[in-house]
Amino acid sequence: PKLDVNINLEVTKHKKPGIVFDIDGVLVKGKNVLPETFKTLKILDTLHIPYIFLTNGGGKTEKKKAQELSKRFHVPIREEQIVLGHSPMRNVPDEIKKKITLIIGPDTCKEVAKSYGFEKPVLSKEILSWKPEIWPFEDQIMFDCPYDLDKESFGAVLMFSDSCTWGQDIQIACDIFRSQNGKLGTQQVPYVKQAVPCYFAAADLLWSNNFPLSRFGQGAFKIALSKLFKELTGKPIEIIQFGKPEKTTYDFAKELLEKFSKNYLNEEISNVYAVGDNPSVDILGANNYGWHSILVRTGVFKTGENDKIYPAKTVVNNVLDSVKFILSQEN
Ligand code: G3P
Ligand code: MG
Repeated sequence: PKLDVNINLEVTKHKKPGIVFDIDGVLVKGKNVLPETFKTLKILDTLHIPYIFLTNGGGKTEKKKAQELSKRFHVPIREEQIVLGHSPMRNVPDEIKKKITLIIGPDTCKEVAKSYGFEKPVLSKEILSWKPEIWPFEDQIMFDCPYDLDKESFGAVLMFSDSCTWGQDIQIACDIFRSQNGKLGTQQVPYVKQAVPCYFAAADLLWSNNFPLSRFGQGAFKIALSKLFKELTGKPIEIIQFGKPEKTTYDFAKELLEKFSKNYLNEEISNVYAVGDNPSVDILGANNYGWHSILVRTGVFKTGENDKIYPAKTVVNNVLDSVKFILSQEN
């Protein structure tokens, strides 16, 4: 596209702003790329301005996501520019990675877990073949369980990405948490403590696609799981939370942005701007981390001056306006 926007930033300027883009509701809506996205990213490439993507979504490796976004956005994108909800899970301790782990999310999450070093990831639908009565609502068992669950124990439950099998996931996860040392089919009587840790890649209650109303995210699943666990045991479930607005995820993203900027663009970063559509996730996270938050009106947030509970530092209509604003600040 033709760059008819007023570009004020000198290409030679010593330090550049760094930009952290949310994806859903900012650059895309479901299968559609928002029209402003193409021009926005072209401008940034032309000006050598470093940017990364920080999404609570997932379900593929960072490499696959980079390839997918390059195709959709018509600009070259590297895996070193991608932080997904589950990206920090590569840092889960090795002793957990060696054990069987229940991976919640689309089937592709199993490959992602393997790429992070998890040696025995398993999906709930594979567990059904071990004892179909564990979830007695499936007419046909389609998948084999690769491990002997009569002998081996679980090391963790990891929520990787939005699941379309909430019922069986919650049932089996609760079974594992209440088991004796992670051995599925056993039970602590009385319940003493959560047998294995639980990790979550994100906790957004809602996210935005091209349906008029926002959709349930992993935060909705988390509420259902936590409530049922409390009902069963009388105790709260302990969750190790990643994704925006958690600080661990922002530390991860900051390091990535700085490395990308130095290694690929040879640029130092002045200020970091975070562009998002979800006040309780993107704006809260950026504000807490000391980044300049910019809220767009194309996603979860749609109308109004600013969010009342989690106000952004700047509010604009869309992603192109966010970059125009950043350029006006950095000149
Ligand atoms: O499933 C996607 C959703 O959780 C949020 O994605 O890009 O708005 O952080 P994003
Ligand atoms: Mg979003």
